[in-house]
Amino acid sequence: MSVAVPRIGIIGWPVSHSRSPLIHNHWLAEAGRPGQYERWPIDPADDFAAALRRMAEDGFIGANVTIPHKENAFHAMDELDAAAQTLGAVNTIAFQDGRLIGHNTDGAGFIAGLDEAEADHAWRHHPVLLLGAGGAARAIIVALAAAGVPEIRLLNRTRARAEALQGLSDKVSVHEWDDRAALSEGCHLLVNTTSLGMQGAAPLDMPLVGLAPRAMVSDIVYTPLKTDLLARAQAAGLVAVDGLGMLLHQAALAFEIWFGLRPHVSADLRDRLVADLTT
Ligand code: ATR
Repeated sequence: MSVAVPRIGIIGWPVSHSRSPLIHNHWLAEAGRPGQYERWPIDPADDFAAALRRMAEDGFIGANVTIPHKENAFHAMDELDAAAQTLGAVNTIAFQDGRLIGHNTDGAGFIAGLDEAEADHAWRHHPVLLLGAGGAARAIIVALAAAGVPEIRLLNRTRARAEALQGLSDKVSVHEWDDRAALSEGCHLLVNTTSLGMQGAAPLDMPLVGLAPRAMVSDIVYTPLKTDLLARAQAAGLVAVDGLGMLLHQAALAFEIWFGLRPHVSADLRDRLVADLTT
């Protein structure tokens, strides 16, 4: 009797650019586990819940969820973990005994990426400067607050979008975008979640002189890997953390949810990802 190979996939629209298959198939091979990670586009015009039911019938045991379906997934779950509940968004689904369990590993993955870059860095004990107010900023705010930072200074070009995130944590204070240089004073962590610096976008105009010496500078963009912001941070002797950290660690946490095994974020995997991104 043949045993079906467990299927996992990345749900989004489009998903052709996703690096998740490369990451998870690497870990499956490394662990010697049977399984296949696939791209699984779902048209936003289709019935999302019905598409998930079909996946369960077709042998899927898990899925990642990306744009534009993280909120659709939230509404389609039978059960949610605390992070998904707080964020109103799901990035990881476990198909378990006919039930859909929704998780969100984005925020914890972001923190794990910082810890990988430098464990025991001082950022946890000082104010953080956070730029941008989209979905990624939401997840990062909740994770930073859980990590115990005393203050999150949140700035966004459109101030109202930042104000809409204020309720996520009493650590959040909202400020004017134009005051970002002055607000960096005393911060040991700067996080850019805006699209500035991304391929095809203007660079982020953000002076780094106000940050603490050896502050961390994190850019969640990974195309290009070394943004202008990160290059300047490195040149200034700060700790630059690129967007692969969050990508790899949110994936590792998802893999652990499906297989009960936390995979290693190795230099080899990182190299394979970098090669894939640059070809
Ligand atoms: P996400 O993918 O995290 O959900 P998004 O909704 O695409 O993010 O938003 C991109 C972020 O980049 C937003 O915070 C956006 O600011 P607005 O809310 O004002 O649009 C920010 N952004 C994009 N272009 C920008 C620019 N030229 N100057 C400043 N911020 C910019």
